[in-house]
Amino acid sequence: MICLALECTAHTLGFAVVERTAAGECKILSNEKDTFKTESGGMVPLELRAHHERVWESVLQKALENSGKAWDGIDLIAFSSGPGMAPALIAGMQVAKKLALENKKPLLGVNHCVAHIEIGKALAGSKDPVVVYASGANTQIIGFETGYYRVFGETLDIGIGNLLDSFGRSLGLGFPAGPALDKWYFEGRQFIELPYTVKGMDLVFSGLETFAEKYWEKNSFGKTLEEQGQLKKDLAFSLLHNAFAELTEVTERALAHTEKSEVLVVGGVGASRALKEMLEKMCKARGAQLFITPLSVVVDNAAMIAWLALLEQNAGRAQKLSEIDINPKWRTDQAEAIWIKN
Ligand code: FE2
Repeated sequence: MICLALECTAHTLGFAVVERTAAGECKILSNEKDTFKTESGGMVPLELRAHHERVWESVLQKALENSGKAWDGIDLIAFSSGPGMAPALIAGMQVAKKLALENKKPLLGVNHCVAHIEIGKALAGSKDPVVVYASGANTQIIGFETGYYRVFGETLDIGIGNLLDSFGRSLGLGFPAGPALDKWYFEGRQFIELPYTVKGMDLVFSGLETFAEKYWEKNSFGKTLEEQGQLKKDLAFSLLHNAFAELTEVTERALAHTEKSEVLVVGGVGASRALKEMLEKMCKARGAQLFITPLSVVVDNAAMIAWLALLEQNAGRAQKLSEIDINPKWRTDQAEAIWIKN
């Protein structure tokens, strides 16, 4: 079976063509995208929608061409119906419905967060992991139990990627700030004491952000450019250290409670080398195995949407076009995982 899918929950407009082979393997035939970027960071929802409406046709064309497939070779169309920013989701749904109608194909709306998990499992080779889902808007520690991916712990305020982007913006970095901060993490020389907040199994990041930003404002004044550069690196090291240590602590507790023996990192922050190193140490100490989603599919992309739709279709899910809608607040633990046997 071959699925053509569209990703459209936030800043990325993507199209991909993916095959589920007879052996049940995931084969990505093409995975194209155009990402809305700004110099100063941040996202304006209506500008996002305009971006998606402007670029979708050329991205679709590229995805079809690179897959070597024409419309008659496509069995299913899918799109990410939530969670996400409503203007972006609406733009995506309108395109998906138009393509389904014009080409007389079945359409499925799937959960973006669960798609991150399933593509990670398929390509990294993990079977039943505790999932560290770390992206811009979402930060959750997840595991499958009886029919659903359950959320064991999550951020009570901002996503860890948003923490990095907002903090990066205060240091003059554009969007996304994660890669530059991750580089600075390894160049930091001094640890600066910053807030560290874990509440039970949940995480809090806004106090950490505010404290670090105030620290920068207060201590960068009157310094040479070189001194400011080192202070940025020290702050990046300290902030990433605390944020990732919070994630690692909750992940370790989830491993202990569930008795699972795998950890899988999904979502854009999964590209961080600092996070990988920290989780690696914890997993080694517990005798667990760490899986990282391959870089090519770790950030938002349409191949993950296509793969989840293929799993769902194979398990018997179908939707009527008139019933399909967006769901901007669709939680990971509200999407029934019918393709997983208990
Ligand atoms: Fe995402």
